[in-house]
Amino acid sequence: MSDSKSSLKSTPTLDRIREWIALVRLSLADAGNRDFSDLQAAYLQHNQIAQNYLGRPLSACKVIEIGYGARPNRLIWFLGQGVDITGIDLDQPILRGTPAEFFAVYRRNGWERAIKTVARWFINERNLRRALLAELSHQRNTPLKLPPERLTVGDAASEDFWTQHRGVNYIFSEDVFEHIPPGSLDRILPLIAASMDPEGVVFVKPMVYTGICGGHHVEWYPHTLNQPIERRTEPWEHLRKNRHPANTYLNKLTLADYRSLFSMHFDILEETCVRPNLGSQFMTPDIRLELSQYPDEELFSNGVVFLLRPRRNSPSSQK
Ligand SMILES: C[S@@+](CC[C@H](N)C(=O)[O-])C[C@H]1O[C@@H](n2cnc3c(N)ncnc32)[C@H](O)[C@@H]1O
Repeated sequence: MSDSKSSLKSTPTLDRIREWIALVRLSLADAGNRDFSDLQAAYLQHNQIAQNYLGRPLSACKVIEIGYGARPNRLIWFLGQGVDITGIDLDQPILRGTPAEFFAVYRRNGWERAIKTVARWFINERNLRRALLAELSHQRNTPLKLPPERLTVGDAASEDFWTQHRGVNYIFSEDVFEHIPPGSLDRILPLIAASMDPEGVVFVKPMVYTGICGGHHVEWYPHTLNQPIERRTEPWEHLRKNRHPANTYLNKLTLADYRSLFSMHFDILEETCVRPNLGSQFMTPDIRLELSQYPDEELFSNGVVFLLRPRRNSPSSQK
């Protein structure tokens, strides 16, 4: 049994219980949501990038998603739009909600992840998945079936996966790279570059560690930031006292780290901070002084989109 990198055993039990309660609350708040406009907006965004840089729609590209997550709805939506897409994630996805799938989660990721998965499925995901498939089947005028082979379970640092996928035109990954250890990123990036069509494009959006949301504390998620909640932690707590680290592995890479890492194998075509100045209302002169080793662009980074193209003369392009 391998432990998911997204769950850490060292987090104190009380903190883990608190985080569980917060996550159940978020799931319950989302339980009646049957609005797929965010999935369509994501599809249109990626489609526009493909048009701009590849001169063709996403439906004419070979696409990979790295880290589709416990809710692979984006990948499913793209499949529904006729995209040739395959994903890879360390964690076993739940596609039909069969006991065998839950047991596979337990075997791969342990009991804590299995309980979370069962809870999430029955609170929210089962009905959401049904509605999603019904909507896509309606749009296509034909039933959409989920081919399990499109959702690979494995480590994106594994060479096997990438040797099976050559001539990839478009790769995307959101809120994943900050969870991958630096040694694995050193392996993944040249593998990605070597698997791609030379004109291909990578869209990667890490949640940069130095931003106010970078500690992945539920109290400082982008969508809880403006809620009037009572917090046990302070702004940028993870860079300061770090009293309640989140229950997830974080590589702590800064914006500058990502730039130099990506530049080894890719040209950076674009770099866009998704929500500039996020958290600026929590900055005080005292905190600014305490964090004086970080430039503003680090502290207000959070989600940053990098568009990358394999560098022609990088070591990976010679393979
Ligand atoms: C925070 S979730 C993000 C999920 C999804 N991309 C989203 O935007 O909702 C991070 C995901 O990255 C996956 N992940 C982390 N390291 C990975 C690796 N080395 N290879 C594949 N997936 C990985 C985790 O299993 C987890 O599902």
